[in-house]
Amino acid sequence: MARSTYNIILPIFLLCFLQQTHTTLSLPLFSIISTNQTQVYIVHVQHPNGPAELLPHIDRESWYHSFLPNTTLDSGEPRMVYTYSVVMSGFAARLTPDEVRFMESIPGFLYAHIDKQLHLRTTHTPTLLGLNQYYSLWKQSNQGEGIIIGVLDTGITPDHPSFADPGLPSPPLKWRGSCNLPAGFSCTNKLIGAEVFLNGGTNTPIDDLGHGTHVAGIAAGSPVPDANVLGQARGTASGMAPRAHIASYRVCVPPFSCSDSDILKGFDQAIKDGVDLIQISIGFANDDYYHNGIVKGSFAALTRGILTINCAGNHGPAKSILDNDVPWILHVGAANIDRRVTAVLTLDNGMEFVGMSAYQPDPSTAVNLPLVYPGVKDTDQTLACEKGSMAGFDVVGKMVLCGFERNNNIEKAKIVKAAGGAAIVVMNQKWNAYTLLADPYVIPAIHVSHNDGIKIVNYFNTTQNPTGTITFKGTEYGIRPSPTVASFSSRGPSILNGGILKPDVIAPGVNILSAWPFKVGKGGAHDVSKGTKNFVMERGTSMAAPHVSGVAALLKELHPDWSPAAIKSAIMTTTYILDRDGGPIIDDASNTRDHADIFAVGAGHINPTAANDPGLVYDVTNTDDYIPYLCGLKDYTSGRVFLIVKKFVTCSPKKMGAEQLNYPSIQVSMGSAGAQKKSVQRTVKNVGEARSNYQASVVEPRGVKVVVIPETLQFSNVGEEKNFTVELSLTGKGQLKKNDVLEGRLNWVSGKRVVSSPIVVTA
Ligand SMILES: *[C@@H]1O[C@H](CO)[C@@H](O)[C@H](O)[C@H]1NC(C)=O
Ligand SMILES: *[C@@H]1O[C@H](CO)[C@@H](O)[C@H](O)[C@H]1NC(C)=O
Ligand SMILES: *[C@@H]1O[C@H](CO)[C@@H](O)[C@H](O)[C@H]1NC(C)=O
Ligand SMILES: *[C@@H]1O[C@H](CO)[C@@H](O)[C@H](O)[C@H]1NC(C)=O
Repeated sequence: MARSTYNIILPIFLLCFLQQTHTTLSLPLFSIISTNQTQVYIVHVQHPNGPAELLPHIDRESWYHSFLPNTTLDSGEPRMVYTYSVVMSGFAARLTPDEVRFMESIPGFLYAHIDKQLHLRTTHTPTLLGLNQYYSLWKQSNQGEGIIIGVLDTGITPDHPSFADPGLPSPPLKWRGSCNLPAGFSCTNKLIGAEVFLNGGTNTPIDDLGHGTHVAGIAAGSPVPDANVLGQARGTASGMAPRAHIASYRVCVPPFSCSDSDILKGFDQAIKDGVDLIQISIGFANDDYYHNGIVKGSFAALTRGILTINCAGNHGPAKSILDNDVPWILHVGAANIDRRVTAVLTLDNGMEFVGMSAYQPDPSTAVNLPLVYPGVKDTDQTLACEKGSMAGFDVVGKMVLCGFERNNNIEKAKIVKAAGGAAIVVMNQKWNAYTLLADPYVIPAIHVSHNDGIKIVNYFNTTQNPTGTITFKGTEYGIRPSPTVASFSSRGPSILNGGILKPDVIAPGVNILSAWPFKVGKGGAHDVSKGTKNFVMERGTSMAAPHVSGVAALLKELHPDWSPAAIKSAIMTTTYILDRDGGPIIDDASNTRDHADIFAVGAGHINPTAANDPGLVYDVTNTDDYIPYLCGLKDYTSGRVFLIVKKFVTCSPKKMGAEQLNYPSIQVSMGSAGAQKKSVQRTVKNVGEARSNYQASVVEPRGVKVVVIPETLQFSNVGEEKNFTVELSLTGKGQLKKNDVLEGRLNWVSGKRVVSSPIVVTA
C-alpha cells in the first residue's frame, strides 16, 4: 500500500488525536532499554477503519505491516508476532528500541510498550482426596449446558476424564473456534476448542504445567466417578458447570509465564470464536491499565457481552497489591473451605496440635520421635530447613521442626529425608498464620499454624528430651471456622481503580481438588499424590476464580438476557458474609483470629443458589458508561483511555468519580480535606417478580450517618429501573484518620430477598 496516500486522507479527528497522543502518551519506556536487541513490543496504531472506507483495498494487515521496517529480522524470523482485530487496533512485533523510536514519527502510531510476562496465580501442591461439589444451583439449571467458557491458561489435557464428553449436545451455531490438537487427540462436545498462542510460533495446546487443566476442571469439568488420590476419599469429582463447553486457549509457557501479547491474542481469538465467558487466572500486580492486556482484552470482551472472571492475586496479606482490578472484571479472592486432611501432633507433655498433611498412611500409623530444631541457629537457612542447613544437627531418625518460608513444604520434606530425618513439622510464619495446606510429603509430616509453632518451639526450648507423635486422621468435613479468608489472598484497597472495592467476592481457593495432566510432575512432587485418575489439590486465587466462572455459566444459562454487569451484580449482592457458625468471616492471616476486613472479603463469599434470584441488579448495559469513569482516574488522558476502550473520547467534560459508577458495592473516600458528607447515586433493575417492593435497610458504618433517598422502591415491571441516592455523613466532629476504614451495608429487602451491598468509608 502507498503510505503517503494514506497519510493525506487521514480524517481530521484522528490527526488531532494523534497530536494529543504525542504529548500525553510518551512514557519513559523507550529510554529504559538501551540495547540493540529486538524485543516483542505491543504497538497501538490508529484504527484503519476511517481511511479503509475510502481506500477499500487497504486491509488491516497491510496497514499494520506498514509500520514495520521490513518483514523479517536478520535471522529470518518474522517481525510480526500477532495482528489484533478485536481487542485493540494494533499488533505485536519484534523491534529494536531504535526502530520503535522511529516508528513513533509515523503518522497513525499511537503508543508502544514492551511485552511483559504475567504470572499464574497459584502455588503448586498436589495432594489427596476431596471434591468440590458443594453447590446445588445444578438443580435449577441444566448444569451450564450450551454455555461456552473460554479458558486462557497453560492449555488443557484433552484425554483427561474431566474433559470427556458426558453426552453433551454440539456447541451452539455461533461457535466458530477451531481445534488444533495434535494427532491422536480430538475435541469433543465438552472440549470444543483448543488453540495456542505462544510468541507467535507454532506450539501445542496441550498443558505441560497442570494449571490450565486444573482451572478448566474446576470451572466445567465433567463428572468423574471414583476420583481419588492415593485411594482415599473416593467420590465423584465435577466442575461447577459440568455441562458447559470448554474452549482452551494456551497463552502460557513453563515456567509459569504468560506474555501480554499472547494474552491479547487469546482474548482476540476467544471473542471472535464466540465464547460466552472468559476465565483467566493470570495476573500482573498493580499494572497500569493502558499497559495491561487483560484489562484491554476484557473490555473488548465486555463490549460483546462477555464477562471476564479473573483472580485477585496471591499477594496477601499485604494490602493494596491486586491484579487487574478494573470494575468490569469479576475479581475473585480465595477462601479456605470446611475440609481438612488432618494430622495431629502430640507432644509427650500431652499437648495436641491439629494440622494438615496429605501424607496419610493407610492404615493410620503414628511415629514417636525425638524433636530437632535447626532454627535454634536463627538463620534464614536453618529456619527454613534448606539444603545444607542441618549440618551439625543430628537429625537421623528424628522429627525436624521447620518454618514455612523460602522453599516450599514438599521441598523441605525431601531435604529432611535426604539428611536422614524421619518426620517433619512445618510451622507457619507470622504472615500466613492459619492457612494450612494439605501437601503430599515424602515422610510423615504435619503443617501447623504460627501460634501452634510458637508453642511447639517453646516446648522444645524448655524440655530435656522433647519428643512428638504424629497421628493421621484422613479427611474431615465441617471444620470450623469456615469459610475463612486465605492468608495469601490479595487485599484492597486498590491503588489504581480510583476507589472501587476489590476483590469483588471470595470463593474456595485452598486445597481444591481438580484434574491434572498425566505426564506432568514425573519425578516431582505431583507424583506422590496423583491417584489413578489424575486429580490433585492446589491452592491460590487461581483456583477461586474458576469456581465463580462455573457459577457465572449457570447464571448465563438460566438468564441469557443478563448483561455481564448483571451477572456480576447477582453474584455480589447475594453473598454470605458470616461463617458457618454465624460469626464474621475470620481472616486466616490474623494470629489473633480477627475477622476479615472488607478489603479482604469484598462483597463476601459466593452463594450460587442465591445468585440465581437476586431480585435487583446494579446493571451497566452501555459499556460507554465506563468512559467517564476511566477519564476520572488520576492521570488518565483521552489518549490513555483510547488504548483501553479503542474509541476516540474527549475526557475533559466527561469525568466521573469512581464512587458514582453503578457498582454493586459502595466505597467512598471523604478526602483529605475532611469533607463531612458525600452522596452517591445508584440505579437498580428489577429482575424478580414484576410487582415488588423493596425497603432500604442500612447497617451504618460506625460514626457515619447514612440516608437513602427514597427509602422504598416500588416496581411494577420486570426490567424496570429505579434510581436512589445514598448520603453518607460523618457524625463526629473530627476528620477521619488516614487508615480509618468504616464498614457498613446497604440492604434492599423484599420478603425473603436481601439485595446486599457493602459500604466502606475511608479518609
Ligand atoms: C548497537 O549497535 C551499534 C552499531 O550498530 C554498536 O556499535 C553497539 O555496540 C551496539 N550496542 C549493543 C549494546 O549491542
Ligand atoms: C530487515 O531489516 C534489518 C535491519 O533493520 C536487516 O538486518 C534485515 O536484513 C532486513 N531484512 C530484509 C528481509 O530485508
Ligand atoms: C527458643 O530458643 C531460641 C534460642 O535458643 C530463641 O531464639 C527463641 O525465641 C525461643 N523460642 C521460644 C518460642 O521460646
Ligand atoms: C436515573 O437517573 C438518570 C440520571 O442520573 C436518568 O437519566 C434516568 O432517567 C433516571 N432513571 C429513572 C428511572 O428515574
